[in-house]
This record gives sequence, structure tokens and C-alpha cells, in this order.
Amino acid sequence: MKQESSPRIFAAEQRSRWRSDPPGIWSLEGADLDSVPALSILTTLWDQPRWLEAYHLYDQRGSELFEEICRLPEYYLTRTENSILESHAADIIAAAPVQCVVELGAGTSKKTVHLLTEQTRRRGRSIFAPIDVSVSALLASQEAVRRDFPQIEFHGLHARYEEGFNAIEKSLPTLFVFLGSTIGNFNHTDFPRFFRALAAAMGPNDFLLLGADRVKPVKLLEDAYNDSRGITAEFILNVFRNINHRLHSNFDLDQMRYHSWYNPEWQQIEMFAVATESQQIRFPEMGASFHWRRDEKILVEISRKFEPLRLQEQLRFFELAPVKHFTDPDQWFSVLLLKKRG
Ligand code: TRP
Repeated sequence: MKQESSPRIFAAEQRSRWRSDPPGIWSLEGADLDSVPALSILTTLWDQPRWLEAYHLYDQRGSELFEEICRLPEYYLTRTENSILESHAADIIAAAPVQCVVELGAGTSKKTVHLLTEQTRRRGRSIFAPIDVSVSALLASQEAVRRDFPQIEFHGLHARYEEGFNAIEKSLPTLFVFLGSTIGNFNHTDFPRFFRALAAAMGPNDFLLLGADRVKPVKLLEDAYNDSRGITAEFILNVFRNINHRLHSNFDLDQMRYHSWYNPEWQQIEMFAVATESQQIRFPEMGASFHWRRDEKILVEISRKFEPLRLQEQLRFFELAPVKHFTDPDQWFSVLLLKKRG
């Protein structure tokens, strides 16, 4: 296949590393995003308390269940953030004079459509470059953008966030978009690492639009992560089906249950799998096994909740200065616009 010439979103030293296939979807040469992360699973399962890294949640089934979560009546995050973006897209785009929008973890970019609408209305031709580890999500986004925004040049980056944002040309004024309160799923090691890396990759004319879920009454928070139809429970426990499939282990989904609660001191929802019976978990290829005691919990996911003023203050220490703060009438969710200090 004839290679597309490298678009101007890529920094000069990055151009030779990226290949497009299919057209408009770029991957790093030699990268293998699906390599079986057996050791990463074992290292955290042997930790105390036992825990798992969140990205194991998103196999095919996991991604479908997640889409379902976003439509649940108890799960206010998606529709609240969407309404904020819908009402304030014009203010956001006016305050961020950019030529390019880069979305981290795009999924299907549904909420970003409001920003793209305003960006084309105000500035005409622009670039949209979502970064995602799922090719099917990038293809869906590409199809929607081609259909609805013929003036937008689309480049999907099939990569992890950090590989993706490090490749973007610093002199191209860019709005980085990170929605869905995904920052809330980073633990206390990943959070500062992420912002340090992102800020270092941003140029002097770049902005960041960040969606963050807020601290609010416990009942609302706990219901959002423990819905009446049990979809969240299924999503969280599905991680063990995925791990069994990848590592040929023997987690028994009928002998575990979902448990979640809001930890007020750490201001986070914690989502666990709890063994309802003792079970011996074996990883035949690794020659490893452990005893999962009855009632012992494995921490599968966290979702931190934020106080926007404090978050803004913290982000200053990563060279990200607050520009604007958008919220909904109930103040349940915040969308923060920040600028890289040049
Ligand atoms: N970032 C969102 C949140 O924290 C979406 C999400 C990530 C989620 N992992 C989850 C929602 C697990 C429910 C369960 O809410």
C-alpha cells in the first residue's frame, strides 16, 4: 500500500516512526498494544492489598458494558459532562485559539462533536486527532467525522496516551481534550506521572480541556457505581473473564461478588471483587498460584472525585494555568480549561 505522506500533526523527529493503515489511522512502527501483560497482572495481584490495572477491563465485552454504563439513569457523569460541553462549546473554542484538537482516549468522540462544531464554525479547516488503543473506536470516530465535518482533517492515533501526545508537533496550536473524568481512574502514582508527561509534551500555545467528576453527597456517588440493573457489577467482574482468557487462569465468577463504596478520606469510589468462597487461583503458564481467601477483596478500579479549585491549584504545579471553569447547575461535574505556561 502506498504510504500517506506524514501530516503536520507529527513532530519532525516522530514522522518516520508512524505508519498509516488503514488510511487516516496511524500506528507506531513495531508497537504491540495487545501483547499479553501477564507479568503486570501477577505483580499487582501479589501486591497487598491485591489490585488490578484498569486497562484490563476493556476487552470487547468490557467496552460494550462500559457503553451501557454511560446510558444508565444512575450514572449522571456522561450526560452531565455532555450538557456542559453542549452549553459552553462556543466559550471554550473562543478561549482556545487552536488549529488542532487532540482527544485522549477518544472512544467514539460523541461529546467532542460539540467542540468540533464550534471549531469549524469559527475557524473553518482544522485537524482532529483522537488517540485510542482501540482501532474499532478510531474507525467509528473517523466515519462520523468524515460524514459530519468534511472540512476537518482526521488523523486517528492508535497508541497509548503518552506515545500519542509525545508525537504531536509542539508548534501546532493544539487543544488537548481529556473527558469522562478518566483522570479519576488514575492512582496516586499514575496521576502525577500523567500530568508531568502531558505538560512536557505540550507547546506554548496549547490548551487542555479536562473533565472531572466532583465530590458530592455519598448516596449519589454510590448509586452511580452500583446501579440497580447490575451492569457496573458485570463490567467490573468481567475483568476476571478477560484475565482467564488471556492467562488461562481459573477465576470462578460464580464465587465472587461486586462490592463498591465511597471512601470519604480518599474521596474516591473503590470497586472490588470479593471472594464468596475460598479459591485456589492458578496461572499454569507462569507456574504461579495463590489462595484467594473467602471475603478477601481485590481492588479492580477506583474513581476519584475532585474539588475543582483544589485541582486547578494542583495543576499549576504541572505548568498548567487555569483559564476557565465550566460546570452544570447542580455543580456535579466540572470541565476545566487550562493553558500550558509558555
Ligand atoms: N472515568 C469514569 C468514572 O470514573 C468512567 C469509568 C471508568 C467507570 N471506570 C469505571 C465507570 C468503572 C464505572 C465503573 O466514572
